[in-house]
Amino acid sequence: MKITLSVIKADVGGYVGHSESHPDLLAKAKENMAKAKKEGLLVDYHVTKCGDDLQLIMTHQQGEDSEKIHKLAWDTFIDCTEIAKQLKLHGAGQDLLSDAFSGNVRGMGPGVAEMEFEERGAETIIIFMADKTSSGAWNMPLYKMFADPFNTIGLVIAENMHQGFAFEVHDIKEGKRVTFNAPEEIYDLLVFIGAPSRFMVKAVYHRGTGAIAAVSSTQRLALIAGRYVGKDDPVCIVRSQGEFPAVGEVLEPFTLPLLVEGWMRGSHHGPLMPVAVEDSTPTRFDGPPRVVAAGFQLSGGKLVGPRDMFADKSFDNARQQALDVADFMRAHGPFEPHRLPLEGMEYTTMPQVMKKLEGRFTPLD
Ligand code: F6R
Ligand code: MG
Ligand code: MG
Repeated sequence: MKITLSVIKADVGGYVGHSESHPDLLAKAKENMAKAKKEGLLVDYHVTKCGDDLQLIMTHQQGEDSEKIHKLAWDTFIDCTEIAKQLKLHGAGQDLLSDAFSGNVRGMGPGVAEMEFEERGAETIIIFMADKTSSGAWNMPLYKMFADPFNTIGLVIAENMHQGFAFEVHDIKEGKRVTFNAPEEIYDLLVFIGAPSRFMVKAVYHRGTGAIAAVSSTQRLALIAGRYVGKDDPVCIVRSQGEFPAVGEVLEPFTLPLLVEGWMRGSHHGPLMPVAVEDSTPTRFDGPPRVVAAGFQLSGGKLVGPRDMFADKSFDNARQQALDVADFMRAHGPFEPHRLPLEGMEYTTMPQVMKKLEGRFTPLD
């Protein structure tokens, strides 16, 4: 059975500030999804949140980039924005960058990760959702899952994974894509994906079967809008077990609270802290950035789950380490590398301050 899994998300209003999602927005989204399921457009759905981001997880048979599915998501975000406006939530409708829907939400603000596949006998799926960071945050975890034998022992000892995986990388500045084969081309691959603000892993494929293994959202809102509109707060779908990494291999990269771009005013580096959904409440200096993981088994497109994967105690040390790193980074205050380099910041006063001080700058010699 061919099924499409679509995860479409947007921040359409925060509660309080940018720290959480209001339950009324989640309730409205569930109502719209339930209606679409009853009408037969959706096979199944799950509505959740990560921080201030509303997450629509949908299964259907309309394929990727379906106008019907994207319109359902867009209309749901519009309805939720209405509620956000009534409650005067912060940043109501902030990720909806267009006034009218035109066939597809790509480029209109919401984040999208979609994959169509033949459902396996047992189809294990992990959906990662992050807040207060951008799409490049998945580069290192995806590399570890699908190319690093120190993370994924299956690459070494499982026959059905031994050929390796292919990484599709997007240059979001130039609007170009390139595919690398791991393991032979990992040094070339790392030249690019080690610079995650520009080069992002869009998808990963099994090299033996060509099957889709992972897909991420790669929107950069700042590039779309040409002005500050928040970090993208990305999502990523990973297929697991069998010829793909096991659940434990998929989650393992997040035991390192890697430093990512985002946090306060989208202008800082901070640790990505793996948390349970209910703990995705970035409050300390609007952070530190969070990642949640919803695990499902698919059954004829039905989303059996979720299991809240990072709720497990075995991620306590990662959380503690993230908090320690957060303290250490915060101690740098307005200095790099806590503050992002000039070109990476979402907020800046540099042009205005430069202009004001124009006459006071004199040549060095
Ligand atoms: C970061 C983020 C927050 C806001 C900050 C200021 O992604 O969402 O840190 O940037 O709270 O928000 P505004 O400008 O909306 O008052
Ligand atoms: Mg927000
Ligand atoms: Mg957010």
